[in-house]
Amino acid sequence: MARIVGGICTSHIPAIGAAIARGAQDDDYWRPFFKGYPPVRDWLAETKPDIAIMIYNDHGLNFFLDKLPTFAIGAAAEYQNADEGWGLPTLPPYAGDPEFSWHLIESLVNDEFDLTTCQEMLVDHAFTVPIALLWPDRSTMTAKTVPISVNTVQHPLPTPKRCYDLGVAVGRAVASHPEDLKVVVIATGGLSHQLEGKRAGFINKAFDEMCMRDLIEDPLALTRFSIHELVEHAGSQGVELIMWLAMRGALGKDVAKLHSHYHIPVSNTGAGLLLLENAA
Ligand code: DHB
Ligand code: FE
Repeated sequence: MARIVGGICTSHIPAIGAAIARGAQDDDYWRPFFKGYPPVRDWLAETKPDIAIMIYNDHGLNFFLDKLPTFAIGAAAEYQNADEGWGLPTLPPYAGDPEFSWHLIESLVNDEFDLTTCQEMLVDHAFTVPIALLWPDRSTMTAKTVPISVNTVQHPLPTPKRCYDLGVAVGRAVASHPEDLKVVVIATGGLSHQLEGKRAGFINKAFDEMCMRDLIEDPLALTRFSIHELVEHAGSQGVELIMWLAMRGALGKDVAKLHSHYHIPVSNTGAGLLLLENAA
């Protein structure tokens, strides 16, 4: 049986990818951010997951305003990256696992989550930057990927509760896969940030800290926020918290925190990192 060995949430700010490309990880600005990651890299090196389910939000590279699925899932043998600006290099493709993807799709659609299935999917910084943070040496990344993209771009967005429930269904889908595979669920985005308008640069540290706590102890409390309340508390792009809720839904009721880190600001964002596993 496949099983979820852990869940990771991390911010995906493009400036991080640009800093990695420049080799600036040890600069004064970047050191306090990058120092949060080695414990999670070590855990991955030790755990060696076979599959990484990447729950992220496309920012306009693969989907645009003309056609924007609420939830989309990849079923390809590989996923290409492409130039999206931000000073980011275009990175080599990521391995997929069509068989595992289709198992997830069958199970999720049966569970009444009607995702858009993509046999071709470009992956943007929300997918590539977390992988660069977690596996700085790509040759050590044995996990094949399954991208699940959540609309955070064009309102109406899926509710926090719906995203948590999607995660629960992902958990059920993994548990019903017959092969003995180790699966890590990686959610990207957040925490508080707003990139445009009068509140550009808005960060809410107290709210971020509450989210990092409640995500572990009382995730259902976070599912009670509406999207508009999340925008108010976390900024218009802070709604990326909904991916974190999907990851949490995929884990069991009780989880143990293995590592956490929070640093502000990174670019315009409160940057958070969490590594959780199911409680024994
Ligand atoms: C920033 C953060 C994001 O989540 C993103 O997608 C783009 C930019 C930022 O803080 O610069
Ligand atoms: Fe983003």
